[in-house]
Amino acid sequence: MNPSLKGQAALVTGADSGIGKGVALALAGAGAKLVINYAHNHDAAEATVAEIKAAGGEAFAVQADVSHEDQVKAMFAQMYAQYGTIDILVNNAGLQKDSRFVDMTLDDWNTVISINLTGQFLCSREAAREFIRRGVVEDRSRAAGKIICMSSVHEVIPWGGHVNYAASKGGISMFMKSIAQELAPHKIRVVGIGPGAIQTPINKSAWDTPEALDKLLTLIPYNRIGKPDDIGKLATWLASDEADYITGTTIFMDGGMTLYPGFADNG
Ligand code: BGC
Repeated sequence: MNPSLKGQAALVTGADSGIGKGVALALAGAGAKLVINYAHNHDAAEATVAEIKAAGGEAFAVQADVSHEDQVKAMFAQMYAQYGTIDILVNNAGLQKDSRFVDMTLDDWNTVISINLTGQFLCSREAAREFIRRGVVEDRSRAAGKIICMSSVHEVIPWGGHVNYAASKGGISMFMKSIAQELAPHKIRVVGIGPGAIQTPINKSAWDTPEALDKLLTLIPYNRIGKPDDIGKLATWLASDEADYITGTTIFMDGGMTLYPGFADNG
């Protein structure tokens, strides 16, 4: 049976493309009403909204840069004006600004940490305040609220050439666990998802030629690239009462990327 999120209000940051879009479509498919957050690409966000509506769901798009406190607050205000509250937050917005470490600019460091990590802080704080204010609504969920933090296999796999990104994901891991510990007595669940290589625009160069894909697959024992829909299904389950006893942990969904495949028959 598909888990039901009927009547629950969900905000997915960075839902105009990639994993965020896959998660938004899946949550809507399970009956949630969506806020589709985007930073820049208005048309893509409206396309996600249209896809949800065409399937009989409810959604609207809100522009906000998640690293700006005033914009985050304004986004939550819009959500409350429309839906009255929030039940599910998916902290998904994130980006890469890759370079060799010695060439990395402070700007590229700060941008990645601000959006990937500080953005999760700002959005989670707003959501947690509302979850605590409102408490559990029995006919919607056993929890007062659910926060899903999109992390990465790079919260545990070091990643040269991407140290700002890996540092942001390592930070998300400890951020997620610490707020999970603090918020659990309020019946708020906080969980992480650690995707491996998922076929999205962020890692296009790793899959868009047969040679690149072959090289990537040497890192994935299960021998296929992931799809946004894989993550969408996991997020839906984690947000549902089926997962009511899960909090403070990251579920890796990576085809085995975290299994140190280089050690198979080696070492
Ligand atoms: C990164 C992708 C990468 C994947 C596996 C993700 O978090 O955003 O670029 O392909 O990790 O290395």
